[in-house]
Amino acid sequence: MAIKNTLFLQALKGETVERPPVWMMRQAGRYLPEFMELKKKYDFFTRCQTPELASEITVQPIRRFGMDAAILFSDILVIPQAMAIEVEMKPNFGPYLPNPIRSQKDLDRVIVPDVHESLGYVLDAIKMTKVKLQDEVPLIGFAGSPWTILCYCVQGQGSKTFDKAKEFCFTQPLVAHGLLQKITDTTIAYLKAKVAAGVNAVQVFDSWGGMLSPEDYNEFSWPYIQQIVDALKNEAPVIVFGKGCWFALKTMSQSGAAALGVDWTCSAQNARYLSGGNITLQGNFDPTRLFSPPAEIKKMVTKMIRDFGKDRYIVNLGHGILPTVPVENAKAFIDAVKSYSE
Ligand code: CP3
Repeated sequence: MAIKNTLFLQALKGETVERPPVWMMRQAGRYLPEFMELKKKYDFFTRCQTPELASEITVQPIRRFGMDAAILFSDILVIPQAMAIEVEMKPNFGPYLPNPIRSQKDLDRVIVPDVHESLGYVLDAIKMTKVKLQDEVPLIGFAGSPWTILCYCVQGQGSKTFDKAKEFCFTQPLVAHGLLQKITDTTIAYLKAKVAAGVNAVQVFDSWGGMLSPEDYNEFSWPYIQQIVDALKNEAPVIVFGKGCWFALKTMSQSGAAALGVDWTCSAQNARYLSGGNITLQGNFDPTRLFSPPAEIKKMVTKMIRDFGKDRYIVNLGHGILPTVPVENAKAFIDAVKSYSE
């Protein structure tokens, strides 16, 4: 069946649109009271692993705001979990991996799983979400970039610097590349299975790519994202989002990706210049700017669309929405795009 709201898919193809599509990274999450209700009753991985819950959380923001695309509720860390690396989500702390990967011996126990077996619950959640969405809007599937997943696998938790992850790459590069390749192989199989289950596009989150120098990025992050794009681009449009990775926009624009994510530290003009002017860009509203009064949000969003241009553009934040953002401010962001006209 054809998707009714085609704005997002049109923008990914570079087609002319009436207005740009809009969705928000982390739109299925803690700023929503209806999400917090479910969070009280079920722990994080129960929410991820129960298709009824994951699909319900996915459609919550669509019902409330009517974004132009849904993103499946899940997490990038289901991949290391499926690879036999233990992952916990600790309340008020975040991800915690009690047995981080620090040596060849650690790497040897990491598996490349059969994704249908170990991640079948995600595929079931996609099928259930597609039923609930009734083809109103497209559904985005996602994965972390291999480098960003390595960050958690080695550091063992979130970090402002990911110093242990970087030290691991710089002192044991062969082991690091071994881990990156295992993550890549798993991710490719996983994203292909997601497309087969029904997602209409995929996004690769390189949330910590900007921790690396441009040279180190070209060694430890980019080649693995390129493998993913190569493997997926004929199956579904691929969006590559690298937080802090403005320096890689040129390389990314020549990769076969359908669109590139941009954060708020890079201006629209500079992002267009660096990416060659032809590829669809996605971003880049500072998530903290959603604390501005709704009237100001509307003005800033209108200016952002003028700066990027309405075509080849997907309105989004420059990173995930913060849990403390008032719901009416999130609504002002979405509404500003929906009421946009030239
Ligand atoms: O975007 C969406 O609405 C879909 C859901 C989604 C989640 N995580 C749900 C989630 C997506 C796309 C992610 C991706 C993700 N997870 C990334 C990449 C995007 C980014 O923000 O950079 C990263 C780095 C993670 C790892 C992760 N998961 C962290 C660091 C945390 C804890 C800190 C935090 O922000 O809460 C999580 C937990 C998590 N993933 C929550 C949600 C809604 C909050 C915890 C909870 O609901 O109990």
